[in-house]
Amino acid sequence: MSKVLVISSSIRTGKKSNRVALYFENFLKGRAHDVELVDLEALDFPLFKERLRNLSSPPQSLVDFAAKIVAADGIVLVTPEYNGGYPASLKNAIDVLYEEWHRKPIAISTVSAGPFAGTQVITSLQFSLWKIRAWTVPAMFPIPNIEKSYDENGVPSDKEATDKRAAAFIDELTWCMDAKMKMTSPVK
Ligand SMILES: Cc1cc2nc3c(=O)[nH]c(=O)nc-3n(C[C@H](O)[C@H](O)[C@H](O)COP(=O)(O)O)c2cc1C
Repeated sequence: MSKVLVISSSIRTGKKSNRVALYFENFLKGRAHDVELVDLEALDFPLFKERLRNLSSPPQSLVDFAAKIVAADGIVLVTPEYNGGYPASLKNAIDVLYEEWHRKPIAISTVSAGPFAGTQVITSLQFSLWKIRAWTVPAMFPIPNIEKSYDENGVPSDKEATDKRAAAFIDELTWCMDAKMKMTSPVK
């Protein structure tokens, strides 16, 4: 059973993109993955001053977060779009780690309140993840009109179509997770 971390990036008061993270938590459980939802708001990291490995007394939440990234076979990263980019909370979480991200399969879901589904985030987020040597999965899960698309429990308004799209998205992540496992398991 593969271990998938779902990261909800928004720490905004009254945030809505976490609905998509909740959806993926449930969707992945339904497909027999070992799933954990990580909400960056709950972790409440301080603003970046140094990488974790250079901090003399890092907060326990940061140490735990790093361990979760290392242990995960893959990640579903849910991010809103703020002024054409991804939120500072996510940049903070990316920059504070380093080796932990290397070759980690990451599938990105972008979210916005309007019709463009947060897709302007993709270029800058993929670039940052590429720079840190993560493995971004070449599939997208863009969500427009979040208020109407999902309720606060993460239930999509059009469940059938959403599940179909999610299946294709997660299949790509699964392929990358499987490929990585084959490359890293000891030769028998
Ligand atoms: C600071 C800020 C900037 C935003 N910039 C954009 C934007 O560039 N494009 C867009 O489609 N929506 C933008 N929005 C609207 C967000 O897509 C919407 O608020 C969404 O719910 C944000 O996710 P969140 O609720 O999880 O924080 C912005 C919202 C905020 C608060």
